[in-house]
Amino acid sequence: MKNILRGRIFGKPKRDSYAYLKRKFVENGDFPGWDRRVRKSVIKRFEIIDRNIKTATTSSDGLFLAEFVFSMKADGDIVECGTYAGASAAKLSILAEITGRKLYIFDSFEGLPETGKEDITDFHARRNSQWVTPWEKGRYRGDIGEVKSNIEKYGSIEACVFKKGFFSKTLNSINLPGKIALAFVDVDIASSAKMCIASIWPRLTAGGLYVSHDIAYLKVLDSILDKNLWESVFHEFPPVLFGAGFGLCDASPHMGFFVKGDISGEYIKSLMIDK
Ligand SMILES: C[S@@+](CC[C@H](N)C(=O)[O-])C[C@H]1O[C@@H](n2cnc3c(N)ncnc32)[C@H](O)[C@@H]1O
Repeated sequence: MKNILRGRIFGKPKRDSYAYLKRKFVENGDFPGWDRRVRKSVIKRFEIIDRNIKTATTSSDGLFLAEFVFSMKADGDIVECGTYAGASAAKLSILAEITGRKLYIFDSFEGLPETGKEDITDFHARRNSQWVTPWEKGRYRGDIGEVKSNIEKYGSIEACVFKKGFFSKTLNSINLPGKIALAFVDVDIASSAKMCIASIWPRLTAGGLYVSHDIAYLKVLDSILDKNLWESVFHEFPPVLFGAGFGLCDASPHMGFFVKGDISGEYIKSLMIDK
């Protein structure tokens, strides 16, 4: 029973459990790219972050992000929208440092903004579409001083550029890098999610990833797949949103991603931990 609780059945990690993903993530060091030693040290640092910084993400989410950054073939920097206390940002800062990129961190650092009635609740696709708890103003507030100090202690502060403010004011060409290789967007509210995709997608380079941590929320799905946005603004069909409504596995139920450009099935496979 104890073993099952740890995601193991009879000594072997259960498929898609954190223990299983961790083993696969290290084994991927045998492919060309980042080797086992680097991958083991990333796991060690990520686990310290998980123990010390409060977070709305899972340990498996961190491993998926690491495999994406290590395996993607795309030019540009990394962008995070939605930071809270800085756990996912600390992990991304380590990945940015290793791969020689910058991490741009966008957040109000005052928590969620006040929303309209239509956005204050959402439906959770995995929980029989129950309402999720209201997105109240100030929820997930992470003070910028606390976030910086967390990243200083557990991440790589040198890789980071901080952009404080509500997205309606900050997500613009002055603050965003011209070329984005990966964006991690964890913002809960449908209107925030729409602002993020509208400003980030055009700057994402070929082979780059737009990773959402909100794909379990039906209103968010609606907003980032909005027909008018894709047809009239981006002038393209929305690409497949991998994980929509389900996530990448039970241990990463809120994470999904788009890949930019004309890419092959082989490329998508190469981005996954279980290749
Ligand atoms: C769920 S938390 C992020 C969790 C974080 N990624 C972690 O590792 O725990 C959502 C974040 O989105 C931010 N946010 C949501 N909408 C925003 C907006 N319109 N402008 C600025 N920040 C926003 C909130 O301030 C909050 O920090």
